[in-house]
This record gives sequence, structure tokens and C-alpha cells, in this order.
Amino acid sequence: MPRTTPEARPFSDKTMDYVRSQFAHLERDMHGAERLFFENSGGSLRLRAAAERALDVSLSPDSNSRPTRVARDLARVQQQGEQDLFAFFNGDPDGALLPTATASQGMFAIVRVITDHVPGTNIVTTAIEHPSSYDSCTRDAERTGQELRVAPADQETGGIDPAAVAALVDEGTSLVSVIATSNITGAVTDIPAVVAAVRAKNPDAYVITDGVQYAPHGVVDAQAWGVDAVNIAPYKMFGDRGNAFTYLSPRLARLPHDKLAAASAGTWAVGSSAPAVYAGFSAIVDYLATVGDTAPGTDRRSALVAGMRAVHAHEQALLGTLLDGTEHQRGLRRIPGVHVHFADRAATLPRDLIVPLTFDDLSCADAVRAYEERGVIVYERVASSPYSERILRAVGLEGVVRVSPLHCHTVEETERFLRVTQEIAEKGRAGE
Ligand SMILES: Cc1ncc(COP(=O)(O)O)c(C=O)c1O
Repeated sequence: MPRTTPEARPFSDKTMDYVRSQFAHLERDMHGAERLFFENSGGSLRLRAAAERALDVSLSPDSNSRPTRVARDLARVQQQGEQDLFAFFNGDPDGALLPTATASQGMFAIVRVITDHVPGTNIVTTAIEHPSSYDSCTRDAERTGQELRVAPADQETGGIDPAAVAALVDEGTSLVSVIATSNITGAVTDIPAVVAAVRAKNPDAYVITDGVQYAPHGVVDAQAWGVDAVNIAPYKMFGDRGNAFTYLSPRLARLPHDKLAAASAGTWAVGSSAPAVYAGFSAIVDYLATVGDTAPGTDRRSALVAGMRAVHAHEQALLGTLLDGTEHQRGLRRIPGVHVHFADRAATLPRDLIVPLTFDDLSCADAVRAYEERGVIVYERVASSPYSERILRAVGLEGVVRVSPLHCHTVEETERFLRVTQEIAEKGRAGE
């Protein structure tokens, strides 16, 4: 999507100190060992407040549907969390929220509802979707007798060209599912352009996006994007595992769906709710709303947007450092024996802070071990894993070391990562 902050801008020292003070295990793991955690795409560093507030609420046994004082407090916590989720998504107030245990469950649920109730002859998706959306589209296309059409990845960017998606859309398209940021290549899809191109050919097609890897890095705006659904997973964006949320547009919210008969028509949650997870999400929004340093009294959404823009700008500065280095340390593009993929157009194409690399003289698994021996946590995504195979092959790779820092990291830590990378590459070249 068009970047809201095209210029890379590191946080001020004051903001950096504040940000770092909010995260747990930033410099040391739970055993007290020093480490640099650059595997945030697999589950991000946690805000202390998100875990603490959730725990606080969890300690109360009361059901928020009862009339007691504590129960009413818990109901208010949930209501605030729902408002914060709408602010985060910039959702239409007539839309709905689907809370689930995982983002994959949310994706499967909405794909099923759309394929059950929106007539059509084909579903369009892309070759780099996470399995949660690719597999749900495949399964439900088969189940409902629709053709599955798969847009290829752009080999140069590791991303999706909106025109490649639109080329597959026709009057029979019921659903289009396109990932917002790739969990393997870091490429950001121009979702508003996808929606515009799809609707120009078929105004009735439902368009949904997997926002799981996009959400920690940029401003989500469901209404401006014009999508029917976006899902997020708080554990990828500074919160806890075990809960996920999907925003649904008003027309999607109205489709028949699993629901207890006693629940109101717009309710998508099935069964008891967990106010603790809403408390955790409100803590994330509280934090983001302070990072942007807006004037007191600024409305929640504007403060949140300012915070996410500051986060995005800092991360773009870290991305620039990773790729091109600093005056003290050469960047990934210039370290002999290291290949950073899809980076040539990184200056012009939207890309989040997820960097795939390979080494000439080391397997991805050996490189990941060498990093850990040097106190750096990264992860390999390889074609032997069924979670990654299709995506890697779609972009012409067998495997990558995925490097995913977070906005709480500094330029100096990024330099440290580069020094370690250079050392590993040199040892690999020397055959050690
Ligand atoms: C892009 C993307 N979508 C969806 C998911 C699935 O999230 P969950 O594990 O919560 O189902 C992931 C998890 O890695 C992801 O990276």
C-alpha cells in the first residue's frame, strides 16, 4: 500500500528509551542469557503492560455477563477492547469483530462463510499466501465446486502485483484473498490498488486480506482499503498468543454465520468471551498511542495512527541500515558470501522489516545455528517445511534465513547483527 511515511526516520533518543523500557526480554532471554531477538515474525517481543493487564483481568473468576460489580468492570474492559480494535482496524461501526484463538481459525471461518453464501464460479488468491488463507480457499473452492485461480508472485520483488490479481478476476469471482505483507519476503501488497482493480471488473466480489504480518509495521485502515475482512494476531504485534481478531465489513458481518441463537445478529463470537485478551489489546493500543507523541486530548485513532507512523519510520531506518549499513559497518548487500533477496527494488517498493537472506557457503539451518551461538535469534524458512514450500518455490527460492527485527531495536543493534553476519559469512567461506 502507498507508504504513509516514505522517509526512514529513527526515533529520537527519548522515544527510543521509552519504547525499549516497555518490552520484556529485549536484551536477555528468560534464562538471563544475552541475545538479540530478530525473529519477531514468528512471534514478537512482548509489551510488559499487555501481559500484565491481561493477567490482572484473568485473575478474576467473574463472568462478564453477570450483574455484579466486578462483572460490570470486566464487561467494560471488553467494551474498551472492542472499541480499541475498531480504532486499530479503522472499522466501519456497522462491521463486526470475530475473535478466535488463532488468525488461521478466523481466516478459515470467513472463507467458509463467504463461499457458502456468495454465489460465484471462482476464487482468486495468490501464490504467496500463508497456508491459512491458501488452504481455506483451496478447500472451500473444492467444496463449493469453484475454480481456484492463483496469481503468481513477482520474482523481482517477492510480492504481488495488483494487476496480476485483477487479471484473474471476472464476473464469476466470488472471493479474492490477498496477503498484505508476506511472512517470507516482507513485500507489502498495495491492497487499495488490488481492491480498486478487482472492483473495476467485479464490484460484488468480496476482497479479504491477511494482515497478520502487516499489522506490527504499518497503519491498518480497513475502510480506506475497502476490504471485507482483515485479520491480525496480537502475538505478532507485541501481545500474547492464544487470541486473534478479524474485522468484518458490514456486508460480510450480515452474512449467515455460526452463532448461538441467543446472541445478537451482529455477534460473531461463539461462546464465552475472555475480557483478559481485550485488556491485553487495549494495552497495546495505549502503548502505540503514546509512541507518536501527540497532544493530550488527541482522539484514539489519530494518536494510534501517529504512533504507527513513527514505528514504521523507525523500522524503515532499520531496514535501510540492514541493507546498506552505516559508516561503521557494511550492509547485507555488500557482505561477500551473503545474498539478500528482493532488495534491489527495496528503495522504491514498500517492504516491511522482514528480510530473507542466504549464504553462499552455509545452509540456512547451519547459519541459524551460527547466529544462535553468537547470541542472535533468527529463523530459517525452507522448502522442506510444508508451511513454506509453496511460497518459497513461488519466488524461486529453496530456503532463506528470515531476519525480522522490531521497532524496539536500535541502529546499533542492527550494526551488531551485521557484524555477526559478516563473521558467519567469513567463517563459511573459510570452510570452518
Ligand atoms: C502471514 C500470516 N498469516 C497467518 C498466520 C497464522 O497465524 P496463527 O498462527 O495465529 O494462526 C501467520 C503465522 O505465522 C502468518 O505469518
